[in-house]
Amino acid sequence: MKNILVSGGAGFIGSAFVRRVTQKYPQYNIIVLDKLTYAGNLDNLLPVHDEPNYTFERGDIADRETVRRVLEQYEIDTIVNFAAETHVDRSILEPDAFIHTDVVGVYILLDTARQMGIQRLHHVSTDEVYGSIPEGFFKEGDPLEPNSPYAASKAGGELMVRAYHVTYGMHTTVTRGSNTFGPYQYPEKVAPFFITEAIDDRPLPLYGDGMQVRDWLYVDDHSDAIDVVLHNGTPGETYNVGGEHEMHNIDVTRFILKALDKPDSLIRYVADRPGHDRRYALTNDKIHAKLDWTPRHSFEESMLDTVRWYRENEWWWRKIKTGEYLDYYKQQYADRLAQAAHPD
Ligand code: NAD
Ligand code: DAU
Repeated sequence: MKNILVSGGAGFIGSAFVRRVTQKYPQYNIIVLDKLTYAGNLDNLLPVHDEPNYTFERGDIADRETVRRVLEQYEIDTIVNFAAETHVDRSILEPDAFIHTDVVGVYILLDTARQMGIQRLHHVSTDEVYGSIPEGFFKEGDPLEPNSPYAASKAGGELMVRAYHVTYGMHTTVTRGSNTFGPYQYPEKVAPFFITEAIDDRPLPLYGDGMQVRDWLYVDDHSDAIDVVLHNGTPGETYNVGGEHEMHNIDVTRFILKALDKPDSLIRYVADRPGHDRRYALTNDKIHAKLDWTPRHSFEESMLDTVRWYRENEWWWRKIKTGEYLDYYKQQYADRLAQAAHPD
């Protein structure tokens, strides 16, 4: 490995991975390819802007000519793909971009790499491909039963990665991460959305009864796991990456409010997300046994650090919460909040 293409490296987890590997592996050249959609943000990469082993290229992973040029120009030997449309609620409102990037984009990356003889590709997937599990834990061999257009498009892309390993012998690996939180996360996802809304004493729209369960994974643990699988994973294999910290949404919300010293009365119970998965839970047994990986950050400490980061970095999120963001906010929340119920 020498020249690594990180697609989607200007997003939340991709940029954490880039900030990590540029420091940890000065012998690698890290080339970020990112379309800079509404969620892509060069501010996330400011900390590495002057690193000699970092380069940025703007482009779409679904554009074969761009992908070919970048792979050629930088003599890429390894691809780590984070690029995706990632927000479930947006996939319910408008699925097109999800098919474009999460399915077609992954195919174009794979196929261009294959044509150019590039063998190594790590694909970042999600626990949402399994669907919902009422009890117990998903393991890697379980069937995929995705329920949202986002999850279905991620499953489609992931299955194409599998096909390129089986059919063409590409050296691919896949990770399925759980709900990730931390600094630089676009404030549409529940943690940064609720933190930044609560800072401004605005209502927090909790879907349904707030009793859905997610497994929470700190972003540094997620990017550490991808690093470990990239270096030591077995070709053709898929690895769950869980935070080993299940929580009901209402408890995450109360934790955030307490950390900010804000009242629970900011909570509004609003109309549920259609097809809302009730519970995600997955086992880390495989990645632990085969690659000796386990999450190292506690939920409590890292969520407190995250809340502190948003308090101290208003420059980062206030300018995001304008323009297109406000149009989306209105579409997603205006009616829900108008008909909302208070916690008491
Ligand atoms: P994000 O939305 O913050 O960032 C996605 C990045 O991809 C952005 O920089 C965007 O500009 C870029 N992008 C989108 N379409 C592109 C295209 N066609 N070509 C090039 N770049 C494009 O996402 P994230 O939360 O950092 O997620 C990164 C990856 O991890 C995704 O594949 C996601 O499915 C997966 N994942 C996320 C979570 C989570 O909780 N956030 C959990 C598990 C897996
Ligand atoms: O599990 C991994 C997945 O986690 C990733 O693949 C996705 O990219 C990422 O967005 C995330 O998906 P979720 O749908 O679980 O995350 P989100 O932050 O949108 O929602 C978390 C929970 O909070 C979910 O049960 C819905 C609920 N929620 C969310 C929002 C935005 C609310 O109750 N109110 C809200 O306003």
